[in-house]
Formats: sequence, structure tokens, C-alpha cells
Amino acid sequence: MENPFLDQKNSLSKLKMFKIGVHSGKGGVGKTFVAVNVAYSLAAKGYKVGLVDADIDCPNVPKFLSVNSMLVREQGGSAKLEPVVHNGVKIVSTALFNPGKEDPIIIRGPIKHRMLLDFLQSVNWGDLDYLVIDLPPGTADVPLSAMQLAALDTLLLVTTPTKEAILDTTRALNMAKKLNVLILGLLENMSGEIFGSNAENIANSFDIPYLGSIPLSKETAQINENAEIAFLKNPVLFKIRDNLVDLIDGIRNSINLERSSRLVKSAQEMSKK
Ligand SMILES: Nc1ncnc2c1ncn2[C@@H]1O[C@H](COP(=O)(O)OP(=O)(O)OP(=O)(O)O)[C@@H](O)[C@H]1O
Ligand SMILES: [Mg+2]
Repeated sequence: MENPFLDQKNSLSKLKMFKIGVHSGKGGVGKTFVAVNVAYSLAAKGYKVGLVDADIDCPNVPKFLSVNSMLVREQGGSAKLEPVVHNGVKIVSTALFNPGKEDPIIIRGPIKHRMLLDFLQSVNWGDLDYLVIDLPPGTADVPLSAMQLAALDTLLLVTTPTKEAILDTTRALNMAKKLNVLILGLLENMSGEIFGSNAENIANSFDIPYLGSIPLSKETAQINENAEIAFLKNPVLFKIRDNLVDLIDGIRNSINLERSSRLVKSAQEMSKK
């Protein structure tokens, strides 16, 4: 019998770029901040990078970056969407269908699922090295579609030190494990005097890499408000940025190596037949 989900998964796994999901069970912990900063840090290293705002009903990436251009569809043929290019990064977001407007996007789960698939499959991404996907919070709808179908290569989990954020992030972590998504690690955001710091212990107890702690700071808040990239502007964050970029690069290289050795093996087996 035909299985439409399997068909979607197979076709999405053929996308060549390395797909990094940025997620947390909890809202407001800095997923968009991290997704945007990772994307622009990879671009600053010379990579071709795309950024999907997968928060379909409350999209924030364009506001975060002060991008107001309009997404347009190619004429004729496949009628693919042209991403907006901002400082070299290709961006799609539902906010860019109606830039600058504050109209609510009132839709149900299945439409969000369809939008996510469209953002992955029906966009002129060209030849990208990395696609960063800023996911909404929770363990349903879009995060579920992304983990089940989008063939994510890895998932970066973000939490703040608070107990509620850690509980919800643990839920997201267990979901990723159940769905066999490779976890890049746990990044703590908004650590410091106010909320403390807990993520290193949590990461160790779940046996996943601890990616560092980003302090809650006036400097970073101001850089974000100015629509600039804190990973490229705030020296306090350079070490965390460099470690993250190196780790992402390392995983991509080892996955590519594994894929090409699998291809060589199957080509050798074919030639024996
Ligand atoms: N380390 C930090 N220091 C200061 N401000 C920060 C820091 N991290 C994030 N912020 C600010 O906190 C707010 C929330 O961040 P962000 O929108 O990235 O969270 P989110 O997890 O994507 O939220 P949502 O669940 O609504 O998508 C933003 O205004 C952002 O600029
Ligand atoms: Mg967000």
C-alpha cells in the first residue's frame, strides 16, 4: 500500500544540504536568536546558508533581522518560491508573504505541516551547504513534522536554566531520541546572576554534548534589538560560536564521509552483479 509519509520522507532526505534544526520544548528561550546567529556565523565562514523560519503562525526571523522584502514565486513551470537574500543568507518565513504586517496567521496543524514541507521542497534553495531551521516550541505539529519527515541531520537544543525550560527541553530531547534524530547538543541561553546555570549537568546526565552557556546580557539584548548578529559582534560569544561552528562542520564532514563510503560500497556491489 502507498505510504504518503514515507514518500515525503524519501524525497526530503534527497535534499543535499546539511539540515540543522534549532529547538526547545519551551518558548522564549532564544531559539530564534540561536538559529539566526548560527546561520550567519556559518555564512561568515564562507558557507552557502539558508534559514527556514519554521514558526509558521508566529514567525520572528524577519523581525529579528529587520527584513521586509517579499517572497515571490517564480513565473511558470514549477512556480518555486524565491527566498529573500539578506547579507548572503537565503531566508523563507510566512512573515515574508505579508512583510511588515501584524495580521494574525490563523491556521490549523495540517496547514503548518504543509507549509514546512513547502519551505523545504518548493523553494529555489540552489546549492546550499547548510540549512538552519528555526523551530517553534513544543513536541507536536511542526517540530514533529520536522523530526519525522524533514530528515534533519542534527538537532541543536536550546534551554534556559529555569526548571520549567529544562523540563520542556527534556521532553524535546526525549522526542528527538524516540525519532532517532542526531542531537548536536544542549546550548544554555540566558545564564548568569538571575537564572544561574544548569545545562552542563543536564547534558551530562542525558549523555549529550554540552555546547556552552550564553549569558543573559544587556549587550546581547541591544545587539539583537539592532537586528545585528551577536555571534559576530559580542566578543564574549566568540568562543561558543567557534566551538559550535567547528562541531557542526565536524558532524557534516563525518556524515558526508559515511554517505560517500556507503555510495562507493553499493556501486561496488552493483558492479559485481
Ligand atoms: N542571551 C541573551 N541576552 C539577552 N537577550 C536575549 C538573549 N537571548 C535571547 N534574547 C532575547 O530574548 C527574546 C526571546 O528570544 P527568541 O525570540 O530568540 O526566543 P524563542 O525561543 O525563539 O521564542 P519563541 O518560542 O517565541 O519562538 C528576544 O527578544 C531575544 O532578542
Ligand atoms: Mg522563535
